[in-house]
Amino acid sequence: MKIAVVGAGYAGLTLSCLAEKGNEINFIDIDEDKVEKINRGISPIYEPGLDEIISKHAGNRIKAYSNYTIAKECDVIFICVHTPSKLDGSIDLSYVFEASKEVAKAIKNSMKYNVIAIKSTVIPGTTLTLKPIIEEYSKKKVGENLGLCMNPEFLREGSAVKDFLNPDKIVIGYLDDGSKDAMLELFNWIDPKVPRILTDPNTAEMIKYAQNAALACRISFINEIANICEKFNVDVKEVAKAIGLDPRIGPHFLNAGIGFGGSCLGKDLRALIRAAEQKGYEANLLKKVLELNEIQPFRIVELLKEHFGSIENRTFALLGLAFKGDTDDVRDSPAIKIALELKNQGVKVKVYDPKAMDNAKKILKDSVQYCKSIDECLKGSEACIIATDWKDFKEFDFSKYKIPIFDGRRILDPEKTKIQGIEYKGIGWKWNTKIQN
Ligand code: UGA
Repeated sequence: MKIAVVGAGYAGLTLSCLAEKGNEINFIDIDEDKVEKINRGISPIYEPGLDEIISKHAGNRIKAYSNYTIAKECDVIFICVHTPSKLDGSIDLSYVFEASKEVAKAIKNSMKYNVIAIKSTVIPGTTLTLKPIIEEYSKKKVGENLGLCMNPEFLREGSAVKDFLNPDKIVIGYLDDGSKDAMLELFNWIDPKVPRILTDPNTAEMIKYAQNAALACRISFINEIANICEKFNVDVKEVAKAIGLDPRIGPHFLNAGIGFGGSCLGKDLRALIRAAEQKGYEANLLKKVLELNEIQPFRIVELLKEHFGSIENRTFALLGLAFKGDTDDVRDSPAIKIALELKNQGVKVKVYDPKAMDNAKKILKDSVQYCKSIDECLKGSEACIIATDWKDFKEFDFSKYKIPIFDGRRILDPEKTKIQGIEYKGIGWKWNTKIQN
């Protein structure tokens, strides 16, 4: 199939995987730099596996453009532009509306049954609101010579390619049979056992929000349990492992730590809370989930203070800046919040991240000292804070430094650090492992 993808962000770029299945992918993005990179076979973002796919198909099955002309020839046009938060937390849909209008203008009077699929995360009702606008600008009619559907994405940064190729479900919220059939055909390589949820656009939009809200709730839940565990000298990891054995709970997404970050969970939660409010409903549970997540990164600062008393003028190593491992993304990263808070409290902060240094520099500027390696970061530091679950940190031999470790992601084995003579503290960890010299 001939596909257009408007917006070369995470969700959009991951559609490159469709080139592997024999489709032609045409990216449309206003960012000339991204367009040029894709055409040179380089992924504009760091995402495991994506560079290989883009470099393999660039100039052939993968092309990029800074205008919408190509859309007219395409069977399916995905809208994957971002939907940022406004200052009040509500969703800014202006990019989705703008992109949809531009697509509609580009396919105006085309003879093809072009299907427009909204992939951006949008509040329930958005696709239906877009319908008359797209019809007006394209001079086409949904169900006659135009398709319109909503196809949310559930991939995680850092494993986006893997998630795309192995989904747990495909959700298609459609208005016309033409768009439903086109989407089913496009995803026909996916194991037939994977459920295809065929529904209306409003429900598809809500599924996306409900899923991210459920994930956020789970993280704030286990973080709260972790904070309580500390008070009772109990290890939250043991607790999480045990409760995860109950099939009603399950083992995933129960890693306690410094809270969730990234461009999605917090933003989507805020948007859902505001959207509910606009309909006259106060989403109290979701508000609390966000609130808990706002303060969770500072738990590490409290632990440092409990340990050192005053932390002013001390030098600490902060390992990890990305909001999670395997990504260079620092958006809403708890690690960045910790760096800024430590700085505010007069700490000299040395930082290192395997991939996210450049992105972090844009926010942290010259408030911290940037290091080229874990060793450089730890050398001369009085404590080490682990803020991102990078494999490099998990595998690092900390024994030569003998400085206390504050594990915000619970990736180290406390027993091992004890044997190595390193004092270890972590979120939701019992304190009785303190080393006595
Ligand atoms: C999230 C969802 O997991 C995806 O399903 C969804 O498609 C995506 O948002 C989106 O809406 O685009 P992502 O933001 O890439 O994906 O990252 P997650 O793996 O969900 O992690 C989010 C944050 O939660 C990270 O900071 C991570 O460290 C934290 N986390 C995750 C925990 O603190 N504990 C856990 O048990 C799991």
